Amino acid sequence: MNARDVTKIAEEIKELKRKKNALLLAHNYQLPEVQDIADFVGDSLGLSHRAANVEADTIIFCGVHFMAETASIIAPEKKVLIPDLEAGCSLAATVDVESLRTWKKKHPEAVVVSYVNTTAAVKAESDYCCTSGNAVKVVNSIPRDREILFLPDMFLGAFVARETGRDLHIWPGECHVHVGISPQDVETMRKNKPEAEVLIHPECGCVSQTMYYSTEQPQQKEHTHILSTEGMTRFVRNSGADEFVIATEIGILHRLHKENPTKTFYPTNPHASCMYMKMITLEKVLASLRHDIFLVRVDPVTASKAKKAIDRMLEIS
Ligand code: 13P
Ligand code: SF4
Repeated sequence: MNARDVTKIAEEIKELKRKKNALLLAHNYQLPEVQDIADFVGDSLGLSHRAANVEADTIIFCGVHFMAETASIIAPEKKVLIPDLEAGCSLAATVDVESLRTWKKKHPEAVVVSYVNTTAAVKAESDYCCTSGNAVKVVNSIPRDREILFLPDMFLGAFVARETGRDLHIWPGECHVHVGISPQDVETMRKNKPEAEVLIHPECGCVSQTMYYSTEQPQQKEHTHILSTEGMTRFVRNSGADEFVIATEIGILHRLHKENPTKTFYPTNPHASCMYMKMITLEKVLASLRHDIFLVRVDPVTASKAKKAIDRMLEIS
């Protein structure tokens, strides 16, 4: 699409948004042109809270399906639309509700902590929800003598186990994008950009090894930060550093550049792109607004159970 087409579609989207009292929310990994037309850009949970706290009747959720479901659970009175129903998540797909029930049967006394990257049905079978930003706090709030099932991301799970000193049962799930960000990628960037602060998403395949290196070399530890996507944007905003190595999905670079035009960002892996996030295009956003597609609705029983897990997390964090 050329720049003229982008401007034309963006104008049509703005006009329809106004007519339909709709709000456009975009995740940090969305295409630049989608982020630019959004009313809010943020992480999955932050966007759901926006959905609940705005006047709009309709929410166009530019992100992946579990995020739109979470918005619908938190804001059930709103019409939540996703521009492409195929926008899934490889991590959320690693665990379905039946497998979770089987796992729970093997550990009947365990507390279940599910990362936000799960379906509503899986959240409904969980005691607590968590995000990458508050997973350590959530696990720390559970009495130390309780057994914990942590799902679905094994790298985030290993990070939480290490930070809390707890022995967690961890589901062997991973995100196909973050698993591709290797310890070697991080170490190469660290050598090439010795002045840069290194920001790593805890879903990355490199997290465990990077933490090990950092422990071995305390001078590196000071410049290595394990952060959620929203945590990264906050860190950069408040940091005096000029250069940052970014280990997560590359969509976030657009927002980082835009908000911090004088700072420089280096992706650890320039190919770390989430095909699901990139399914949401401006044309699909326009079609979504025009035809009220695709409605994301969670059945009320599942939604109410899932909301309990989300609310328990919110009480802690
Ligand atoms: P956030 O929870 O930071 O929005 O990230 C979700 C995600 O999909 C990370 O890959
Ligand atoms: Fe899911 Fe990974 Fe894409 Fe995030 S980057 S939405 S975890 S597939």
